[in-house]
Amino acid sequence: MANSGKVLVTGATGNTGSGLVPALRAAGVDVRALVRDEAKAQPLRDVGAELVVGDLDQPETIGPAVEGVDKIYLLTWNGPTQARQAENVINAAKQAGTPHLVRHSMWGSEKSRIVQQGNQVEEAVKSSGLPWTLLKPTFFMQNTMMAAPTIASDGMIYWDMQDGKLAMIDVRDVVDVALAVLTGSGHESKSYILTGPEAISFHDVAATFSKVLGKNVRYVSVPGEASLQSMVGMGFPEWIARGYVELSEGFSENFANSVTDNVASLTGRPARSFEQFANDFAQVFGGDS
Ligand SMILES: NC(=O)c1ccc[n+]([C@@H]2O[C@H](COP(=O)([O-])OP(=O)(O)OC[C@H]3O[C@@H](n4cnc5c(N)ncnc54)[C@H](OP(=O)(O)O)[C@@H]3O)[C@@H](O)[C@H]2O)c1
Repeated sequence: MANSGKVLVTGATGNTGSGLVPALRAAGVDVRALVRDEAKAQPLRDVGAELVVGDLDQPETIGPAVEGVDKIYLLTWNGPTQARQAENVINAAKQAGTPHLVRHSMWGSEKSRIVQQGNQVEEAVKSSGLPWTLLKPTFFMQNTMMAAPTIASDGMIYWDMQDGKLAMIDVRDVVDVALAVLTGSGHESKSYILTGPEAISFHDVAATFSKVLGKNVRYVSVPGEASLQSMVGMGFPEWIARGYVELSEGFSENFANSVTDNVASLTGRPARSFEQFANDFAQVFGGDS
């Protein structure tokens, strides 16, 4: 049984939260999950998490979620109210006690409006007067699932990354790090940049899919404007889509082309490679296993 007290996870239904809540529960941690739509939260209930329905944009709904917790995994969305959402949680947390804030932040270029807001949140967390830790993952390998339909149908990846190399990370490693930090000690006032094991380009991504899927996969770099239109067409809010294009601009210029060993030092094992990710999720990309 982990000795981490009660942990509140925000963004519990998302990429990281949906892995983190079961991982914490499996480690014996008492978990409260803040969700805005209970209908999406059955898997969290199934693993024994307590659910609180709230909306990070509505401060009055956050009080019950932070009441009595020892730690908060503070994950917000990417949208224009990111900084406000974090401020709402920090204010409620300070009223409720002195919980340790583990902020799920990001490692990307400040060219992006998303990172600009993320940096504001980091400052707010550090100056909150509460114990804090910053986790700063870079681009998730799982984002390549957006290209799964064209990889499966034509063996094509269209992305606005030019030839940039970036040390993308498997979300499962972010979950493992978050688990280690939330259940461990000595992480107060620390900031961890989280990367995968190597910096790779989207040409490398295509080559790995070719190997894993046993067919020719090619990468074509597209202009940011084309990427923007495609994301808006897929239903992304324009503010966020522009933020992603700005992030890609930074990655194209090799913003994240270096690696850290924080995944290994915090979890005790190396970060997963892109090939491991592609193998584990081959079916999503039209593969057999
Ligand atoms: N994607 C990446 O490559 C990447 C890399 C590094 C860092 N990050 C950072 O990770 C964070 C999450 O990004 P993501 O793309 O992975 O998204 P995500 O965690 O998959 O989704 C966002 C989560 O926030 C919840 N949420 C959104 N608005 C909310 C609100 N008003 N009140 C309560 N909950 C709300 C969503 O709930 P619903 O299920 O109800 O929508 C969902 O659980 C962002 O801060 C991003 O900058 C992302």
